[in-house]
Amino acid sequence: MKKIHLLLLLSVSVGLFLPLSNMLGLSGENEPIPVVAGSSQRFATVTQIFQNKCVDCHSPGMTRMPIYADLPIAKQLMAKDIEKASARLTLSKQLYSGAASFTPLMLARLEGVLQNNSMPPALYLLMHWTDDLTADEKQSILGWIAEERGKSPASQDSAKALKGEPVQPLPLKQDFDAKKVALGHALFNDTLLSGDNTLSCASCHNLAKGGTDQAKVATGIRGQQGPINSPTVYNASYNFVQFWDGRAKDLQEQAAGPVANPGEMGAQWDEVVEKLKQVESYKTAFAEVYADQGLTKTTVTDAIAGFEQSLVTPNSRFDQYLRGNNDILTANEKAGYDLFKVNCASCHVGPTLGGLSFEKMGVKQDYFKLRGGPLTEVDNGRFNVSHQEKDRHFFKVPVLRNIELTYPYFHDGSVADLATAVQIMGKVQQGKNFTSDETNKIVDFLKTLTGETQLR
Ligand code: HEC
Ligand code: HEC
Ligand code: HEC
Repeated sequence: MKKIHLLLLLSVSVGLFLPLSNMLGLSGENEPIPVVAGSSQRFATVTQIFQNKCVDCHSPGMTRMPIYADLPIAKQLMAKDIEKASARLTLSKQLYSGAASFTPLMLARLEGVLQNNSMPPALYLLMHWTDDLTADEKQSILGWIAEERGKSPASQDSAKALKGEPVQPLPLKQDFDAKKVALGHALFNDTLLSGDNTLSCASCHNLAKGGTDQAKVATGIRGQQGPINSPTVYNASYNFVQFWDGRAKDLQEQAAGPVANPGEMGAQWDEVVEKLKQVESYKTAFAEVYADQGLTKTTVTDAIAGFEQSLVTPNSRFDQYLRGNNDILTANEKAGYDLFKVNCASCHVGPTLGGLSFEKMGVKQDYFKLRGGPLTEVDNGRFNVSHQEKDRHFFKVPVLRNIELTYPYFHDGSVADLATAVQIMGKVQQGKNFTSDETNKIVDFLKTLTGETQLR
């Protein structure tokens, strides 16, 4: 009974407000959009589709509310829908006019809903069946997404036919400041950065183990078991923020953390700086690389970040495929990539297949129930930083480069093998139970992402 009421209310809320508002003459935004100078015909077509079928829920502040929206419950439900919709994708006038650009993440999410036929929402289509996207419209949007991706610098290296893919190859060659990289490398491996001179960054981010410790959770000084799994340092420079919960804005800020964390390296920064100053080779190197500043906490973390920037793992078999070597992948690996594109690439997108957003762990099913065991503080994810309920169980999407080496998986390190991790992702993020054949194909694809490392 309750369910029916809610359904009714929902269809009133999302279903009715458009036609009513149109009848009441409140509309005015579904007019043709002038073609912006310099934009493609495709872009013009696509913005018109958005304008007609999507903006009402995806444009905060622009929405026309019908009269009954003043009924308390309908109002709340509608506001919630619009808030939820625009938190995931905001279609603003700036985007139409070309003043702002669609980010790779927005394109990935758009592609995701087209592949899953999930937008506009089914409930809404009950009342607005004419607003369903036609096959032609879907093609237009998909073609435009590929066109947009083709413009990104990251895809310039891809073969012509693959420039519109959600994943781009890592650059084969990049220029780094060699002296800073060498200095950062030495610091990364130096146990003087820990309170009792036993641990270096490399203790938990072993470059021969995919940049991780391959352990469920990290072990800090004096054998302390940490609360969370060590992510890889390889390709970490591509992350939009650092840590599972994004609490550091970049690599330099991140590097200051573990040194002073009592559960990790357990040191005091001023003591670390004093210890390093006693080392002759550091004196020389810092004088050379940081002539003005010398050896300080800031220059130490800057050098480490500079080193980490060089930890890119190019030329994986998948990258060779993207560059045009079509025969390098097996049929199973290609089939796995096709499954990945439909089920995973709305979150795992870009050159590192992740690192661009926070996403909920457990979109379709409660991951933590499935896992069992008590909830820990780190399970809160992004909530621990923002203290907003909407961020509970949200984590930075991990990069999937070299994923076959960076086991065990997830922030809690609870899953030892890749096939199980893939099955759990299918279940909790997409509500799908992959067959073992599908799972194996996705795993085969993921293993093509192992790139070259320069072990130093
Ligand atoms: C009736 C309101 C409504 C309309 C109309 C609508 N959406 Fe949505 N959309 C939502 C809501 C609500 C969400 C958030 C779903 C959630 O968070 O569970 C959403 C989420 C999305 C997302 C994010 C998916 C993700 O990865 O989380 C995309 C992309 C999207 N919509 C695209 C579209 C497009 C394209 C159209 C037009 C064809 C459209 N929407 C029309 C309500 C709407
Ligand atoms: C005791 C083990 C340990 C040591 C030592 C350690 N780390 Fe970490 N590192 C971790 C863990 C665990 C995390 C994840 C913590 C979190 O997200 O809350 C992490 C996160 C990171 C990240 C973020 C990666 C991402 O994807 O978000 C980078 C980069 C990193 N560490 C670099 C370093 C550097 C540089 C040092 C040395 C200054 C260092 N780590 C020392 C265990 C360690
Ligand atoms: C809604 C966004 C989303 C979708 C869709 C998604 N993932 Fe994830 N993925 C995440 C997040 C967030 C995490 C980290 C969760 C955690 O550690 O608790 C993650 C973690 C992973 C990990 C573990 C990485 C590591 O280093 O521990 C793998 C492997 C993975 N995903 C593969 C996939 C595959 C394969 C698919 C498609 C079947 C998929 N994901 C779909 C968001 C997503």
